[in-house]
Amino acid sequence: MTGVLDTLAAYGVLPVVVIDRALDADYLAEALVGGGLPLAEVTLRTPASLDAIRTLALRADTLVGAGTVLTPTQVDQAVDAGAAFVASPGFSRPVVERCVELGVPVVPGTVTPTEVMAALDLGVSCVNVFPAHAAGGPPAVAVLGEVFPDLRIIASGGIGPDDAASYLALPQVVAVGGSWMVRRTLVLAREVTTIARLCREAVELVAGVRSASS
Ligand code: 3PG
Repeated sequence: MTGVLDTLAAYGVLPVVVIDRALDADYLAEALVGGGLPLAEVTLRTPASLDAIRTLALRADTLVGAGTVLTPTQVDQAVDAGAAFVASPGFSRPVVERCVELGVPVVPGTVTPTEVMAALDLGVSCVNVFPAHAAGGPPAVAVLGEVFPDLRIIASGGIGPDDAASYLALPQVVAVGGSWMVRRTLVLAREVTTIARLCREAVELVAGVRSASS
């Protein structure tokens, strides 16, 4: 894995953000930093997303990537805005190839072994199993891990504090992605204290799983 993906793995939880106003990005950053989880995947689902990435990327205390990246043009826009990594909900060869060209770490979405193999063919080392819950949850992710022992997995989609540990307990799951600590309404309301608390709880959850398995 690259340095950025190592950092995601070290935290073990990746807050996935849908942001409606770029002006909320600094509040979001304060909350993430305050909660000890200074990283975010900002999804390109809103007009504010690229400006929010730009704001977060300018800060020295947060790591920001772009999510829901669907096209090579969006890869260019995200990297131009300062995204340190790119995540996709599905496997797109053009998206992965553009990321490889630009040297930006990419975590493509995969659910099936066929998609994983297509990603491996392009040199991908870490995939985003999305939507993890709908695809069968931890047992489905575990099967992929058994078949592809060198694969690193971020699981996301439908994961919350009640089941995150079941994913993180799987040896190849380096992190879970989720919006539960940065819900859209919380970001919009600039609920810094609540977001920080939920982040802190997520960090504690990861620490609990890791200390139990060490
Ligand atoms: C997403 O793409 O929305 C993420 O994987 C997060 O999903 P969630 O909102 O179900 O946590």
